[in-house]
Amino acid sequence: MSENTKAVSGTPAAPSSGPASSMWGGRFAGGPAAIMQRINASIDFDQRLYAQDIRGSQAHCRMLVQQGIITAADGDAILTGLDQVLQEIESGQFPFRTELEDIHMNVEARLAEIIGEPAGRLHTARSRNDQVATDFRLWVRDAMDGMDAALQGLLEALITRAEEHAATVMPGFTHLQAAQPVTMGHHLMAYVEMIGRDRGRLADARARLNESPLGSAALAGTSFPIDRHFTAGQLGFDRPMANSLDGVSDRDFALEFMASSAICAIHLSRLAEEMVIWTSAQFRFIKLSDAFTTGSSIMPQKRNPDAAELVRAKTGRVIGDLNALLIVMKGLPLAYSKDMQDDKEPVFECADTMELAIAAMTGMIGDMTVNTAVLEKAAGAGFTTATDIADWCVRALKMPFRKAHHVAGSLVKMAEDKGCDLPDLSLDEMRQVEPGITEDARAVLSVASSVASRTSFGGTAPERVREAAAAARAKWLS
Ligand code: ARG
Repeated sequence: MSENTKAVSGTPAAPSSGPASSMWGGRFAGGPAAIMQRINASIDFDQRLYAQDIRGSQAHCRMLVQQGIITAADGDAILTGLDQVLQEIESGQFPFRTELEDIHMNVEARLAEIIGEPAGRLHTARSRNDQVATDFRLWVRDAMDGMDAALQGLLEALITRAEEHAATVMPGFTHLQAAQPVTMGHHLMAYVEMIGRDRGRLADARARLNESPLGSAALAGTSFPIDRHFTAGQLGFDRPMANSLDGVSDRDFALEFMASSAICAIHLSRLAEEMVIWTSAQFRFIKLSDAFTTGSSIMPQKRNPDAAELVRAKTGRVIGDLNALLIVMKGLPLAYSKDMQDDKEPVFECADTMELAIAAMTGMIGDMTVNTAVLEKAAGAGFTTATDIADWCVRALKMPFRKAHHVAGSLVKMAEDKGCDLPDLSLDEMRQVEPGITEDARAVLSVASSVASRTSFGGTAPERVREAAAAARAKWLS
């Protein structure tokens, strides 16, 4: 690193003294400038593809043997050598070399050191262009599967808390103004729906991703009698990609992974924001334990919801990662351009960030204590059952809703003037507004009866919430 740093800050563009790459240097007399090596090399980050690279090479090797393109003896040597490379990487013994640019050439060069000449036959009928496209698809597929499993864990936590709080009342908000009472279970189940759709988006993207670019070669296909269906099957792809130019040049699968992640991150961010609001001294709807909060070094009373704030913040990175690759890809002519080497870091950051954010959110949902007494009080404050009295007038007095709305509005004004809540108004007082009101109208003003009455499909009534939670459990967790 210090060598490279010197090359950047000192005299630029001095050619390095080493020979040109043994992989592609046939027609090159001199080696690359130090700065060229730095901008060109991807090994610092693409070494994360090692397992996929070796898996892809082994599938390719088996196919070359099966098709009689290389001998069984060479194939055996290559497969054994690749196993050793894998083992060296996993045990931390592997000598990663920047001058070998990327993971593909690092693996192949080490293979040559281990098995000698047969290593040079592995790259028959293949190019780094289809190799990297294959490796990266395999990596993103694994990342999708990992994210899906993490989201399943989050769903489990949300559904469990929703079942527990199916009948816990709280204020429902629009414009962050108390609107109508809802149940906490209903509120949490809203996020179950969102996260469920996030899983659906990942599954859709995964199905489109799952075609093999291997055998596209550099861009045009190959003159060797390869079997792309065989390698596709070996690597768990549904089929080979139908067009070799497309195979090496599109990264829409990575974009779809990041787009799905960005939408999911926005869902997590909204929930995180609610947790920030709910834990505040002004709301006190929930409490997070010591496990998910921090103290202030100066204000001893504080318990800060840092994890929730950071989940909210991480969304910025994920959206940035998606944008970074969208902008890299925009305007690239077919087929491969080196720009596309810059596809990996955003995807890695996106996957790492999502893993962290989902885990933190899952932990917080399980950790939070719901302050039911505070929620119950808040649920009735701010005349949140005004709609219920209007609905009663429509049902019992056959009033048009617009008129009933007016009656309810007058009752709110009366309570406001008196400085009390709607249920505190006496029957006589209510009759001054609307003489038709009877004692049973007063029953609809309680928060519990308000939520219990909202039994429409998808509504907030505890029985509907229990049904929705059971349906979600069956759909997502079995
Ligand atoms: N490291 C390269 C990448 O990630 C591999 C493909 C290189 N292909 C090429 N034609 N130079 O994109």
